[in-house]
Amino acid sequence: MNIIVVGGQGLVGRNIVDRLRLQGHQVSSASRRSGVDLISGEGLAQSLAGADVVVDVSNASTFDDMAAFEFFKTAIFNLLLAEKRAGVRHHVSLSVVGTDRLPASPYLRGKALQERLIASSGVPFTIVHATQFFEFLLDIITYAMGGQAVRLSPAFIEPVASDDVAAMIARIAVGPPRNGAIEIAGPERARMSELIQRFVLDMEAPYEVRSDAGAPYFGATLDEFVLLPREDAERGELGFQAWFEQSEYARADW
Ligand SMILES: NC(=O)c1ccc[n+]([C@@H]2O[C@H](COP(=O)([O-])OP(=O)(O)OC[C@H]3O[C@@H](n4cnc5c(N)ncnc54)[C@H](OP(=O)(O)O)[C@@H]3O)[C@@H](O)[C@H]2O)c1
Repeated sequence: MNIIVVGGQGLVGRNIVDRLRLQGHQVSSASRRSGVDLISGEGLAQSLAGADVVVDVSNASTFDDMAAFEFFKTAIFNLLLAEKRAGVRHHVSLSVVGTDRLPASPYLRGKALQERLIASSGVPFTIVHATQFFEFLLDIITYAMGGQAVRLSPAFIEPVASDDVAAMIARIAVGPPRNGAIEIAGPERARMSELIQRFVLDMEAPYEVRSDAGAPYFGATLDEFVLLPREDAERGELGFQAWFEQSEYARADW
């Protein structure tokens, strides 16, 4: 199978490319580093020539302003147009659990718009909703930080290892399009503020975590259950402790 991974040099993209190549598929990575720009459209048509499947794991470089919304809108418009012209038979997209429930976040509003455009594009598709990656916990801290204090919502989360998400997407990419969304989450539930407090203690970082129900999460205020997946979500294998012990953060030197 000829598979193009858009964003194939990112965190989850690299992992998907490696897994698909190991299975013997012909896989290319497309991103600005390889001369393909979703925003200007440069290199898109050439990169999709002959592709059976496109896996889109590209990402905006910012999380909390309108630039993120504009990125996702323009990127999906250009990508779907190019896919139609190339006759792509399956578009696989990685999105986030709860996108349509948090319109106050420009990032998630952009992801939700992408999902609607994919579903109405006529290109057969599968959307994978994942919960927060463990690898994303530090980004959550960074965006919530004011001085050394980190104000975080106590909303429940079920974070997942990006490795488990990559494994699922590599499977989906070589299967039939679902023409719908499926979900993946981690094996454990925790309150965001408590899990991040534990993360901070485990890595001995000099941050003070405060639980605050009104703390914004990338522009949105969270109710307790809004970030949780559906009952039928697939479960990743790696829990927080196992992930942490094998991560670079277990050895971080502040
Ligand atoms: N992090 C989480 O917790 C989480 C949870 C659920 C879902 N997701 C979704 O997973 C996806 C991938 O996340 P990630 O953390 O793996 O992303 P990442 O590491 O930030 O990688 C993003 C990729 O997008 C490419 N890219 C950025 N701008 C581009 C452009 N204009 N044209 C072409 N390619 C471009 C980048 O390559 P170049 O720099 O070479 O262009 C890079 O390969 C995102 O859509 C995100 O919403 C993330």
